[in-house]
Amino acid sequence: MADDSTPSFALTAGGPFRTRSDVLVLFTDESPKPAAPLDAVDRALDGKLLRAAREEGFRGKADQTFVFHTHGRLSAERIVVAGLGPAAQRDGERLRAKTVTLAVPAVNGAAAVQAVAEGAALGAYQFDRYRTNGRDERVDLQSVRLLLPEGVDRTRVAEQALAAALRVAGAANFARTLVNEPAAHLTPEKLAEEAAAVGKTHRLQVKVSGPKELKRLRMGMFSAVGQGSTNGPRLIELAYRPKKTADQRRQPVALVGKAITFDSGGLSLKTAEGMADMKTDMAGSAAVLGAMSVVATLAPPFPVIGYLGAAENMPSGEAYRPGDVLISRLGKTVEVTNTDAEGRLVLGDVLSYAVEQKPSAVIDLATLTGACVVALGLWMGGAFSNDDALAEEVLTAARRAGESFWRMPLIELQKETLRSEVADMKNAGDRWGGAITAAVFLKEFVGQTPWVHLDIAGTSQAMRERGYQSKGATGVGVRTLVEFLKGRATRDG
Ligand code: BES
Ligand code: MN
Ligand code: ZN
Repeated sequence: MADDSTPSFALTAGGPFRTRSDVLVLFTDESPKPAAPLDAVDRALDGKLLRAAREEGFRGKADQTFVFHTHGRLSAERIVVAGLGPAAQRDGERLRAKTVTLAVPAVNGAAAVQAVAEGAALGAYQFDRYRTNGRDERVDLQSVRLLLPEGVDRTRVAEQALAAALRVAGAANFARTLVNEPAAHLTPEKLAEEAAAVGKTHRLQVKVSGPKELKRLRMGMFSAVGQGSTNGPRLIELAYRPKKTADQRRQPVALVGKAITFDSGGLSLKTAEGMADMKTDMAGSAAVLGAMSVVATLAPPFPVIGYLGAAENMPSGEAYRPGDVLISRLGKTVEVTNTDAEGRLVLGDVLSYAVEQKPSAVIDLATLTGACVVALGLWMGGAFSNDDALAEEVLTAARRAGESFWRMPLIELQKETLRSEVADMKNAGDRWGGAITAAVFLKEFVGQTPWVHLDIAGTSQAMRERGYQSKGATGVGVRTLVEFLKGRATRDG
């Protein structure tokens, strides 16, 4: 399910006056003195560029942009001055440009190439396969050139940084497409097919278990969530194994994703408003699948296993009911008090299954609770962990990737709200601290294994465009997982 709108990318050297393109993007920070090549371009335009920018209130702030027509005085027809932050690309699209040149700032060497390219490739993403109106008027961005700073050649390092950026942005864009895809199309079965395709292209073992196998695996919670839909549940496993036998024997890293392809709430039905966006309830698994698609190129010296718990949460004559008591794979029994608290049921079984492989770390990603959105808003995900070192490792990776998570507490007292009269616990408690309640529920299924739970209910979707992020699915998690695996690979290599 690759998106076909991706423009081509190339590095170019030789200064800002030689590259011919519709738009030339020059970055600048908030300092009053512009750096190269903005200063030279401004001089070539008799200082009119920056004077006009300043008059229009441009201050070089992140996400701030200013457009200037050169009227043929430069090889580029228009110039965009962009405040630092990878915001320029979407403007390239809005300007209906086919070709854009981005001047890479002369800071941090190849890391700047990677940042600009990643921002551009994420910004150029569009999900328009179901739009027929206006197709003729739309102008697709076809090529992006990254203009290297003066004196920097198209070295191997720069080429590698570009390739790495396109790989990770491609993985994130793939995840976004999976999330944006309507649930009628992306069923658990279809997700399994997508995973199989990823496995084939990227040398991963893929194993898919259907409803019967889930029963045989005694995943009573996972099975129950899936039983109300004609689109039956799938447990999808993808395994990367390193080449060296000694590395293969190392403890794996486990990545677990919630893949509710549609969350109607089940018999505890959601409202029309609450249900409208619930095709996105598989964003956690999209992030895992995106990360798994690049793990082979990262070649970490330990196995990495991705687990996607896929089910459609639907009401029907066969649906699980409030009051049902479910027997989890771990043996703990759970009284269902709300069928809309389905994610924790699926994840509970998948987490305990993943832990059986004795992983050194488990990271799960899930659009788990509305309460997390209430707590942290739309721009920050929640991070819960039973292990401070692993939490720090994941948060550091997220920071490097430019994704925002905030550590939240796991409070044992919160378990009281899940106390049941008829089973070991209930699946839903009262309203207060709902994101913590869900995390505390999951914690029951990971034992002593170092584990981080990322609640991405708020950040998996952007309600509005912001910088390089278009409206719709964000692909959040992919870049954090990739940075995490890169960091571990370096540490353990
Ligand atoms: N998938 C939802 C959580 C969600 C809400 C994701 C909003 C994205 C945006 C989850 O399955 C759910 O319904 N959670 C309930 C839990 C409650 C019944 C204990 C919730 O948050 O209301
Ligand atoms: Mn739900
Ligand atoms: Zn859900």
